[in-house]
Amino acid sequence: MLGKIINYYTIKNQVFIVFETKKIIATIIDDGICNFKEEETSSFAVDVNGFIFDYINPVVEKIDNAIKITHGRYKYVINDNFILSIYFDDVLISSDISYYNNKTNEFIDNSLLEAEGHAVNIEEEYKYIISKKINSNDCLYGLGDKTGFLNKRGYEYDMWNTDDPAPHVDSFKALYKSIPFFIVFNKSYSYGYFFDNTYKSNFNMAKNNSEVVSIGFTDGPLNYYFIGGNNLKDVVSNYTYITGRMDMPKRFTLGYHQSRWSYSTKDEVIKLVDNFKKYDIPLECVHLDIDYMDGYRVFTVNDERFSDFKNFTEEMKNKGVKLVTIIDPGVKVDSNYDVYNYIVKNKLVATENNEVYVNSVWPGESVYPSFIDPKLRTYWGELDGKMLDLGVSGIWNDMNEPASFNGPLPSKVEFFDGNRIHYHDEVHNIYGHYMAKATYEGMKKHNNERPFVITRACYAGTQKYSTVWTGDNHSIWSHLQMAIPQICNLGLSGFAFAGCDVGGFSSDATKELLIRWAELGAITPLFRNHSAMGTKRQEPWEFDDETISIYRKAVKLRYEIIPYYYDLFFEAANTGIPAFRAVVLEYPEDSNTYEINDEVMLGANILASPVVEQGKRNKLVYLPSGTNWYDYYSYDKFEPGYHIYDAPLDKLPLFVKEGAIIPKYPNYESLDDPKTIIFEIYPGDGTYIHYQDNGVDFNYEEGEYNIYEISHIDGNIRIDLSYNGYKLYDKIYIKYKNNIQEYKEIGTILKIE
Ligand code: GLC
Repeated sequence: MLGKIINYYTIKNQVFIVFETKKIIATIIDDGICNFKEEETSSFAVDVNGFIFDYINPVVEKIDNAIKITHGRYKYVINDNFILSIYFDDVLISSDISYYNNKTNEFIDNSLLEAEGHAVNIEEEYKYIISKKINSNDCLYGLGDKTGFLNKRGYEYDMWNTDDPAPHVDSFKALYKSIPFFIVFNKSYSYGYFFDNTYKSNFNMAKNNSEVVSIGFTDGPLNYYFIGGNNLKDVVSNYTYITGRMDMPKRFTLGYHQSRWSYSTKDEVIKLVDNFKKYDIPLECVHLDIDYMDGYRVFTVNDERFSDFKNFTEEMKNKGVKLVTIIDPGVKVDSNYDVYNYIVKNKLVATENNEVYVNSVWPGESVYPSFIDPKLRTYWGELDGKMLDLGVSGIWNDMNEPASFNGPLPSKVEFFDGNRIHYHDEVHNIYGHYMAKATYEGMKKHNNERPFVITRACYAGTQKYSTVWTGDNHSIWSHLQMAIPQICNLGLSGFAFAGCDVGGFSSDATKELLIRWAELGAITPLFRNHSAMGTKRQEPWEFDDETISIYRKAVKLRYEIIPYYYDLFFEAANTGIPAFRAVVLEYPEDSNTYEINDEVMLGANILASPVVEQGKRNKLVYLPSGTNWYDYYSYDKFEPGYHIYDAPLDKLPLFVKEGAIIPKYPNYESLDDPKTIIFEIYPGDGTYIHYQDNGVDFNYEEGEYNIYEISHIDGNIRIDLSYNGYKLYDKIYIKYKNNIQEYKEIGTILKIE
């Protein structure tokens, strides 16, 4: 309890509210974005000091005993005990509940539950609980990678990065990522809350009371953001304004990735790559899992199995294939190993009671680098740079929850940040975040190219450094189904570049599951087939000819839409709006979209309705209202509403919005320097903006890119260059139905029929 309001004062855009026991600072960051925090609170994810502006001048008044802060269309009214109410255009949209008991009052005998092997829920003691009133028909989105469906209403989750290989089911409270951000959505408003607290917390999403969301924090200071906006997209955009957005990705990363734990010799990899050639399946990248290392020592290469590694990466590049290597955080305890010696000698590792802390991961006994220490990050980043020198094209960070095989890290394990000690209970949820930061910064510094980092664990804001995948899913149909809402919610939580293990990691994939998963993979931002050792192999030729041919079709479809995807990443880099979008993000007016779990929008123009059920050869498709839709393949017209669509095994149902223009690559060109583009015109007038750059480095930030504006009015196609800072395509084609014509001169009109 903070007690009564004693006083307040304003400096720039910050209002200091003095309560009996504490001071709360309300910082008005922008229209509808306000941070509330205790004094002296710093953040691991956000540079709060970066949001102090002279030019934002909220109106601050004291009315009765409340402080009222007005800025733009928003009013924040703060009462005694920091009871907050927020108004949008004078309508109350969010308010605190002063006391709310989110614990169950039921009698529970845990010993009986345990006796039959049930999971027992130990109710945490919370340092503080914040309870927000919502409406009973509000949808709740976001929260990162949590299991289950798009709408999180009625469930309860924990923020505690967790590596649990059991099948991730709806009742899981936590997975690998902690993104303490959720969105409250209703036809008439949307807003979000971001609780920037890294300690373990619990998000009760109206589970006990349909009108209350209640968040309990085990520790840490109060520090949260209200994130409003005129619509759902604004909220996502505003949230990523606070926590950061991705760079443009390297173009090759949008291609097809093949992985398995583990391709363990270079001959195996060469054979793999040759098979992709043989079966005419495009391949961009192979991921090397832990067996490329020498005894699982990170930043080493096994000389016997991967001899002359630099030549090998070169040889692969000559075949058009890049290599990504896994780097885990656990450093093997081994006094003959330079990485271990260096980080221990320089006190760059976690300790317990001042002694080096040892747990166990793949290499056996291992130490945990302190990624919150800038010195460690610099060292680690240099090691990543050495991997680049060996010809590696990306780094895959895993096990960074951090995982441990010998019991969980005790809460009082110490991590030094260069100035002072932080304990594990504070650092746990940001361990992966800082590992990704070290990797990103090291790679960027080394060659000034766009780093390709993939991480399993992360916190709010990790999207600035890394793409993510959803960890160890299983080859089961329910995980194919879950991938859609999971990647959509990651997108709504700031992670525009995300994917899942295509085919499923654990358990054995069937032919049909792999095929349907490849069809989904073809449209997820990161498209990587990955599986665990000991499971049925998941390369398409491990099944039959039909699998090979459908798999090829799915991967080629992916390559066709890569220029469209690249445009979507241009949008994500600038606005934070994800490429792979929950349908509601595009159609917030259409209430049928609010809980769609088996469809997704790829940007504004393509709706995908993958088949995610075993045995199904048709799909009940919902096409949102307000526009007509066209079959991606046949141009058949569909009105909005429900349709039963034929979806044989080799077909991913795709629909294009009326008036859309989709940039496509002709039958798979190299992604290194694509010289030809096709703009495919779908029925209806429309315009489209297409972005082009070198796909590799940061020169685009200095203006080395092109923006093409394509318009279609009544059968007349015109392309203009609204910005020209990079070489143009050699050839541009316009495609309409079965006609393809070369478009020869920018600024002229070409007729289609
Ligand atoms: C973890 C990762 C998985 C990887 C395995 C071995 O389970 O999630 O992707 O293959 O470790 O490194």
